[in-house]
Amino acid sequence: MEINQLVKTIKNIRRSNPENLMARHFDAEYFHTLDDQSRRNLYEIIKTGIDNPDSTMGAYAQNPDDYDQFSQLLDPMIREFHGIDPATSITQKHDWNTSASSCNLASIDLRLKDVSMRVRVARNVTTFPLPGSMNKNQRVEFENLAARAFAELSRQPEFGGKYLSITPGSANEINAEEYEQRISAHQMFKDMSNDPYLKSAGISNDWPHGRGMYVSDEEDFLVWVGEEDHLRIMTMQRGGNLNAMFERLGNGIEMLSTLLPPFASSAQYGNVTSCPTNLGTAMRASLHMKLPRSTSNGKDISTLKSKAQTLGLAVRGAGGEHSDAGKDGLVDISPVGRLGITEMQIMQRLYDGAAQLWLTETSL
Ligand code: ARG
Repeated sequence: MEINQLVKTIKNIRRSNPENLMARHFDAEYFHTLDDQSRRNLYEIIKTGIDNPDSTMGAYAQNPDDYDQFSQLLDPMIREFHGIDPATSITQKHDWNTSASSCNLASIDLRLKDVSMRVRVARNVTTFPLPGSMNKNQRVEFENLAARAFAELSRQPEFGGKYLSITPGSANEINAEEYEQRISAHQMFKDMSNDPYLKSAGISNDWPHGRGMYVSDEEDFLVWVGEEDHLRIMTMQRGGNLNAMFERLGNGIEMLSTLLPPFASSAQYGNVTSCPTNLGTAMRASLHMKLPRSTSNGKDISTLKSKAQTLGLAVRGAGGEHSDAGKDGLVDISPVGRLGITEMQIMQRLYDGAAQLWLTETSL
């Protein structure tokens, strides 16, 4: 796109969609100071927010060092999204010491001893561009590298499992039927080109090449390959013991980090991710809770949403991003904070928030 036209388009988006952080912080003067190549690179980062005016962030990094190189635009966006004012310096701290607290949902109420719990983190390696700018060969090359790491991982009794690929012709390829089955089991990810934000960013390109998933024998430890980030490492369990689940995830990440190239991270922003909303811990921890009274049998989650917001939690339907609650009031709750909060603080926030929401539910 021609520069003046681009600047005009973004100005219009700023007016029509004030929530689009890219458009809000885009500075034409800064853009003009960049050389041609940098301008092209920055355009690739913000293209998603131009193609999709209704974006809340409106940018996906294409390379791990984009956050340094284009900090003049990205830093203010990151600060606004994560609620960190310009005067405060950001230093992401990590904490995986699960023994320092006790977060067992069963101690809130025995009825909460069997909820669906899930924690995922995003990781990207330093030796490849981020998914938005990988070419087909790189995607497959990265997948092969990951598959070799998984072959090692599966020799650890605690993490034994198998790698399932959807890359056509891959040695680990699964058939369409198994792929669908893994999607229904909420284990595998769907074709990302249905997500217009990811599509504009190039993240879903070359689908399904270089995509797959590692799954442990117990099916409670999963690693996605080639989705929004190089790796999405997660634990899924039914139960109430958050400590045990976080500990398993922490151990799995630690183990994988010894089998793969170094993960991209920054002192300031912690784990480097494609989406600036995921920086920091790159963690999303969630619970599926049935809250029929708080949601008028799933018909209205707005009251629940505002209550949850005061607790630092986001609520959505259990069907994923942009879904509604079911009739039984089944919702997905998760702490919003990713950056400037540690992994253990996220666990605690989820536990404390669940306790509060449950208290409201049972008193209605
Ligand atoms: N890019 C979209 C936006 O800016 C989604 C951001 C959060 N979701 C995600 N899957 N990273 O609104």
